[in-house]
This record gives sequence, structure tokens and C-alpha cells, in this order.
Amino acid sequence: MLACQKDLFSLPPGLHYLNCAYMSPLSRRAEEAGIAGIRRKRVPTALAPKDFFDGPDRARELFARLIGAPDPSRVAIVPAASYGIAVAARNTAVRRGQNVVILHEQFPSNVYAWRNLAREHGLELRTVAPPEDRVVRGEEWNARILEAIDEDTAVVAIPHVHWTDGTLFDLERIGERAREMGAALVVDGTQSVGALPFDVERIRPDALVCASYKWLFGPYSLGLAYFGPRYDEGRPLEESWLGRAGSEDFRNLVHYRDDYRPGAARFDVGEAGNFALMPMLHVALEQLLEWGVAEIQAYCRELTREAIAEAVALGFGVEDEAWRGAHLFGLRAPEGIDVGTIAERLRARDVVVSVRGGSLRISPNVYNDADDVAALLDALRESVAAAPHR
Ligand SMILES: Cc1ncc(COP(=O)(O)O)c(C=O)c1O
Repeated sequence: MLACQKDLFSLPPGLHYLNCAYMSPLSRRAEEAGIAGIRRKRVPTALAPKDFFDGPDRARELFARLIGAPDPSRVAIVPAASYGIAVAARNTAVRRGQNVVILHEQFPSNVYAWRNLAREHGLELRTVAPPEDRVVRGEEWNARILEAIDEDTAVVAIPHVHWTDGTLFDLERIGERAREMGAALVVDGTQSVGALPFDVERIRPDALVCASYKWLFGPYSLGLAYFGPRYDEGRPLEESWLGRAGSEDFRNLVHYRDDYRPGAARFDVGEAGNFALMPMLHVALEQLLEWGVAEIQAYCRELTREAIAEAVALGFGVEDEAWRGAHLFGLRAPEGIDVGTIAERLRARDVVVSVRGGSLRISPNVYNDADDVAALLDALRESVAAAPHR
């Protein structure tokens, strides 16, 4: 069992930060790597042409290991999840009358590109909703997704867990169904990869896109995207010179070429080498590999197990364990207790979570300890005890 890793971070004492779904704190090592990266540009001779490629390639290699992808060249460097999704949307072949399957209240980075594609090509945007007014709904929601995928589905564009309440989606089963129907599976892994195991060989996504500033512990403005064979001959969003074959030879750049570098590097954002941010991402990914993603998920499960049971005994609602993330889950406020009031009590105790609709979104990670969870529970108990008519 992994030990608490709080010492590697600079969170102030007394702050109970249970909101990695918003943004992870930066580790001290990643911070130092970023500062060293900035300083490299003090003297430009410190940056050789090969440095433009080595940084991105190292990130590809680390990310490929994290998601169990045998071929690192299938990983592209993106500046945001929306960018990776836009690459997939641009390169997904569609016919008028087909549909795109997405989820109710999905994060917008995985919605707008599909809305545009649907508008431009006469597709139906099929939004799969969960059963209403039920806390335990993950299993039924998953069943509805499988039902929504049919022979007219061009693409299923979904996350691994829902960003508002951590509902878990069975990507292996959904991917199978998508493949049976010839549909692409495009996954936004921003709220899961790094904390919830993802295996490319089992899930077989056509694309997996992740911003790095949450569960990957990376910097803001740098993310990663895996692209499967479906997108092998795809067109990038921009035409970075670094994505062209032979671009390693800086003397011959004006011998313009039509061919791209092999693999997903063609989809890289321009200036993907980002000398300040890239070393931070390397350190963050190395650290994740050292901890182990399954161990992180297990740490979050153990850390919150008793607190969740107690919250349920207090009247809070939670999804079945089989259908929620241990790193990201919602607690629905008991009837008659205003979630805003609970939020105020949490703030008073320096407990940081998000409020989403009538629920609290709790998203712990390895820097959290029993004190953080105890502070959360104290505020929940107090809110219930103070509620009128109960
Ligand atoms: C599911 C999900 N995807 C993506 C993002 C970030 O998107 P982007 O990198 O496009 O800003 C978030 C941020 O909250 C998110 O929750």
C-alpha cells in the first residue's frame, strides 16, 4: 500500500485539498524542473536542435507506458484536451444520417467539436442521459450507452468517469460494442488517466486524449493524446514544420516536403518542445509510473472507505462502488439539507471540494491523508446536526 505523499508537495498545512478534479497541486520536483526549464533559455546555445524532439519523444514514451500502449509513436503532444478531440473530430469519416454518441452533461471539450461535425455533416448528436433523480444509476446509464450505439453510429465520444460525479463507464464493453458497429471510440481521459488504470490493449480506443494538469500532475497547457490506426493518415489541425519528415535537419527546412514524421507526431501542437513545461511533464509522469496508477486508485479507495460509509449513514447518497471512481465521486446531500450550506461549513474548515448541482464532488489523491477526510466528515456531520426538521 502506497504511503501518503504529502511531503513531496507544497500544500499549506491545514488546507484539506480534496479537489484534484479541478487541478492537481504541483510537486516540488516538477516545480524545480519547470524553473530549470525556464533558465535554459538564458543562453540559447543550451538548446540544440535535438532538444526540440527529445522532450516530446520522452513524454510520448512515458505516457505510452502509463496507458499500456506498445508504440510510443502513437502519442501526440497537445496543448489541451479540446485540441486532441478536435484532431479526432477532423479525421473521423462520417456520412449524413449517422450519429455521434456523447453523454449528458459531458465536459464541453468533448462536445463542441462533435456539435460542429454534426451540424456540418447532418449527423444526430445522441446524448445519453442517466436515469433521473437516482443516486445509484451507473449500471443503468452504462446499459443505456450500449443501447444508444447502433449501426449508424460514427463515433462514441465519452470519458472513463463523469467529471461531475465520477460515474464509471465500462469502456471495454462500450469499445467492443462500438467496434461491432464500426464506430470510433474517442475517450477523454482527463479525469481518470493517472488515477484510474487505463489499458490501451484492452480498451482499444481510437483516440485517448488527456489534459495533464489534473490527474497526470502536469503543468497547465500541456496534454497528451494517443491515436490508434484509424487516424494513421489523418490531417493535423495546423501544419507545424516540426511535424514534417526530415525536420530534424535545420539546414534543409526549405526543402519543403509533403510527408509527415512517422506516427502521431503529425498531430503535435506547434512548438511542442516547450522547454519550460515539458520537463515538468516528464517529472510528473515518471513519478506516476513510480507510484503505480492501480496503487493510486487503491490509496484513494482505502483513504475514503470509512468516511463514505459514515456519510451514507448520515443520509448522503453515493453511487455503487462498482460504478464510481475511488479518486472522484459525488456525495448527494440528504433531503432538506442545502448543499450551499454544507459548502460554507466545508470552507470554514478549509476543506476544498467542488459543488456540482445537489452534490459535492470529492476528488482525493496521494497527498491527502486521514486528517483531510476527517475534516470533511466533521463538516458533513455538523451540517446534518444543524439541519432543521431532522
Ligand atoms: C473531463 C474533462 N476534460 C477536459 C478538461 C479540460 O479541457 P481542456 O484541456 O480542453 O481545457 C476538463 C476540465 O475540467 C475535464 O473535466
